[in-house]
Amino acid sequence: MTVIGLLLFSCVNTPFNVEKELNYCNLQLKKTGVEISGNNRMPRSIADTAARWKQEDVKIESWTVGFFPGILWYNYEYTNEPSDAEVAVYYTNLLYPLTKLPAYDHDLGFQLFCSYGNAYRLTGNEDYKRILLNAADTLATLFNPKAGTILSWPRDMNLYGGHNTIIDNMINLEMLFWASKNGGSKKLYDIAVKHAETTIKYHFREDGGCYHVTVYDSIDGHFIKGVTHQGYSDSSLWARGQAWAIYSYTMVYRETQDKKFLRFAEKVTDLYLGRLPKNEYVPYWDFDAPNIPNAPRDASAAAITASALLELSQLEDNREKSAKYQTAAINMLVELSSEKYQSRASKPSFLLHSTGHYPSGSEIDASIIYADYYYIEALIRYKSITNN
Ligand code: GLY
Repeated sequence: MTVIGLLLFSCVNTPFNVEKELNYCNLQLKKTGVEISGNNRMPRSIADTAARWKQEDVKIESWTVGFFPGILWYNYEYTNEPSDAEVAVYYTNLLYPLTKLPAYDHDLGFQLFCSYGNAYRLTGNEDYKRILLNAADTLATLFNPKAGTILSWPRDMNLYGGHNTIIDNMINLEMLFWASKNGGSKKLYDIAVKHAETTIKYHFREDGGCYHVTVYDSIDGHFIKGVTHQGYSDSSLWARGQAWAIYSYTMVYRETQDKKFLRFAEKVTDLYLGRLPKNEYVPYWDFDAPNIPNAPRDASAAAITASALLELSQLEDNREKSAKYQTAAINMLVELSSEKYQSRASKPSFLLHSTGHYPSGSEIDASIIYADYYYIEALIRYKSITNN
């Protein structure tokens, strides 16, 4: 924690009871455990009209399979109960077959760092470490040095007309940074930094808003275009995409201590905060969705951003900005923890009202597992920062 962070958090009046919210998550997890036990599948989402998890098999094609094990590790971090660790180990081990495969796409970071990354952080188990080091090398095989980024979707090279990179891919750099510090190659660090730099150059508009997808020539690497995949339009501000940008540039600054990444994290954050509805902290699924105020919200974007801003407020070298980001993060957590956004008795998830893929009509106004992951991560971060 930085000195600024210590000063700020030492004078904060805790505006909400984080233990209460973590106990709530623990209770919801118990309900999920009863519902999914025995079939070795991962909870994925609950439609707004449903009360039970849609579950998915563990397969390399699903980017979301690592979130439930990650949630279980955060829950264990809170409870410190050996039985909670056992469940986390069990669901983490279900992912083991994925650790042996060649790179299918960039989502390997989401799949294995949220699960095995937290497992290693909390247990120090060397088997987990070996798996993560191998996964980082596998992810790095998708790096194209001419383009300067990791390829996101090898299967969609023809569809997009080249080497495609999505903003979400930035999150996966954390596994490369981690590996380079934990016995892996220094090249992994260089790849992560190059990817982050190239992304700043081509993935963002003048105002700091990001495209979902950038396309580069796969032979000479030149930038071809920025387009959307899950946003409203190529030039709109897709809420979760911007949340990934906030989260990832904060993480890249933490890992590199290079101030240009801090300044960029501020830029993408200030745009997001400036475009939130007045006195509201959960965005519409796209800030430019045509039917606002009747458009669905995206609680996952708010959860990702809340977690990111708790970290950014600690890393800041500017006292005012630190306070601004801390206040915004707390406001987001308070709103997400309200009756409107928590599932409570209606469903076993933590949160309601996330939007997965609006253009394809999938997971709209739903409970989605990654919203729950970033929500509990934010609660754990809040607790550790405030010593609450
Ligand atoms: N990584 C895909 C998404 O954010 O929906």
